[in-house]
Amino acid sequence: MTRFAERDALKRAAARHALGLVAPGMVVGVGTGTTARHFIAGLAELAAGGLRVSAVATSLASEVALSAAGIPVVAGELAHPIDLAVDGADEIDPALRLVKGHGGALFREKMVATAAERFVVIADGSKLVERLGATFVPVEVAPFLWRHTARRLAALGATCELRGGAGRPYRTDNGNLIVDLAFPAGLEDPERTAAEIKAVTGVLEHGLFLGLATGAIVATREGLRLLGSVAG
Ligand code: 5RP
Repeated sequence: MTRFAERDALKRAAARHALGLVAPGMVVGVGTGTTARHFIAGLAELAAGGLRVSAVATSLASEVALSAAGIPVVAGELAHPIDLAVDGADEIDPALRLVKGHGGALFREKMVATAAERFVVIADGSKLVERLGATFVPVEVAPFLWRHTARRLAALGATCELRGGAGRPYRTDNGNLIVDLAFPAGLEDPERTAAEIKAVTGVLEHGLFLGLATGAIVATREGLRLLGSVAG
């Protein structure tokens, strides 16, 4: 098995385990990315077998997949909390703090995570880190004067890169840009960095998800690791 296939099998194992948390009638927040795609595939099978749930999608891509599976997708009109949100992550630290957004959907992902009563992360073991900032922290910014916003973000001690490059910038589902921040030594104090990023005018949201995940299902070669509270 190639390394890619092995990681994909682990992502699928984590996603499949999360399906056990879904109950009839729930409003389920559904994530974005390759791990979340396995969760959507499983939800589609359950729906085909008669399970009735509705979903809040964290991206247009996930919305299309959910709709294709006949799962009703709700958005702006949702007045009550999401029962359960399930999504992947790019980094998970021992305190269940996350970096998310490498797939570009961080704004809606954070909206869904904050609106959910339970937010369970699904991932393969490569996402476990001792300290956040091992990769990069995506930040969604308004296109207006974005270079000015990026300069202020760089002043926080980060290397900034516009996703896609200035010639063909990546656009989020919300029509905004993403600036990826790399912190050479990682994040000593993620809460402080999160507050500093959020204080920059022009920033709409960042990929530090702190105090949001209630549990995580992490699939490793040695088996499933359940972190935090995962039970239904
Ligand atoms: C998208 C995300 C994804 O959850 C994250 O990038 C993990 O992706 P994958 O499951 O493909 O490894 O935050 O914005």
